[in-house]
Amino acid sequence: MAPVSNPVGEQIHETHPDAPCVGVGNISNPTLLVRDIKNIQHITQVDFESFHHRGMNALPDDILANCIPFLNGKEWKLIRKNMTPLFTAVKLRQMFTTMNKGALDFVEYLKDNPKKLKGDALNTLSTFSCAAIGASVFGITTKSIFDSPFLEMARKVNIPSFWFDLKLFLWIVAPTLFRLCRMKVFAEHEEFFVKAVKQIIEQRKKEGGKHADFIDLCLNLQNKEELKDEESGFVIKPTDEVMAAQAFFFFVAGVEPNASALFFTLLELGRNPEALERVHKEIDVHFEKYQNNLTYDNLTELKYLNVVLQESLRLHPPIGFISRQCVRDSVLPVGNIKVENGTKIFISVYGFQRDRKLYPDPEKFIPERFTQETKHANDTILAFGKGNRASLACVAPVCIEILAPPRPDPPHPAAKTINFVVVTRKFFHIP
Ligand code: HEM
Repeated sequence: MAPVSNPVGEQIHETHPDAPCVGVGNISNPTLLVRDIKNIQHITQVDFESFHHRGMNALPDDILANCIPFLNGKEWKLIRKNMTPLFTAVKLRQMFTTMNKGALDFVEYLKDNPKKLKGDALNTLSTFSCAAIGASVFGITTKSIFDSPFLEMARKVNIPSFWFDLKLFLWIVAPTLFRLCRMKVFAEHEEFFVKAVKQIIEQRKKEGGKHADFIDLCLNLQNKEELKDEESGFVIKPTDEVMAAQAFFFFVAGVEPNASALFFTLLELGRNPEALERVHKEIDVHFEKYQNNLTYDNLTELKYLNVVLQESLRLHPPIGFISRQCVRDSVLPVGNIKVENGTKIFISVYGFQRDRKLYPDPEKFIPERFTQETKHANDTILAFGKGNRASLACVAPVCIEILAPPRPDPPHPAAKTINFVVVTRKFFHIP
């Protein structure tokens, strides 16, 4: 699946620099492209009750599309609440260990497959991303994460196809036609994925043990027999199919956006040697301080790397737009704009993050925009979405793992930076 963008939205955002919102033609519903940050906050946070809908609805028998981002209302609330425990600090700390192993395996994998350094860099990073996310979500502990059977499966999911893009387009702009044709968004992956998740759950039941991963969470939820919203009494049965849909989305949501974030960060660092030098120095000092021991807890000290990531995500957001649908009449504060029930909302992440009023010289890579002293627009990064339906993810740990060197007994102090230099230089043919 290619990174999700919306070039029309980007163009509309850019060509209406003074408008808080722009009305957009759509065959099914009135549609607004919202530009102003206060209005965006109103939609995603302040008046969430009026805009909690994503604007896309899957058919009940479209198993894999019944996952968090495409669920709405009571179903969304209940599933999101029950999936959130997978991302607590304790769980992330454990997943971090798996990702750490993934990064070390990745360096070995690149050494064993030198062609990968010369070929399609995004594809190679997708391989890492697939393997690391598959391993941490499913707790696969094979010798190398690249032996994981999920790698092949995740690859299949992410192969771009015209038919899938067409379905996505119809789903967004002509949902009634989509439903009338009884289309399933992820039909081609359903049989394989549901079967695989069933097998893993079965196997884990037999083997027992605690892994602190997604499969453990599934078993805990299934032991309860039903998920219940105490407020409304609404109930969902945590069947293997319901769990498979969530697992599937973690692949779809995780793999490509992560690979794209890594790719563009490396690309920008390759183009900006001063920033690259500073990142190396920061990593060297960090490894010196912690005796080569990178942990989930000491990651946050890599402050410059963090702003490099933010700036890269600003310039190259992996998901280019955010969508919502109004489910109750509301009024947007800037421009006092009345929004009627049923109106679709689009926010162009890409257009917004390159808005020259917010970011002078928007095309330039300037990580310092986000440092504490100069930060003026931290609130306006939309790469992970905004408000109650923002992404469950954090990209930082994954990226740092690629930037990080192999830890056990580096042969020479300079080796601490060699892998990253090698990866960056070889990927982008920098002499
Ligand atoms: C660089 C990596 C990623 C980026 C840039 C990213 C970005 C986004 C964006 C823009 C949205 C829409 C948010 C909104 O509508 O306000 C989203 C939704 C979501 N993302 Fe991510 N994402 C990334 C990785 C991941 C990963 C690794 C996971 C899980 C393993 C994940 C889980 C989700 C979920 C569950 C949603 C739907 C939230 C909801 O509707 O309640 N994302 N993501």
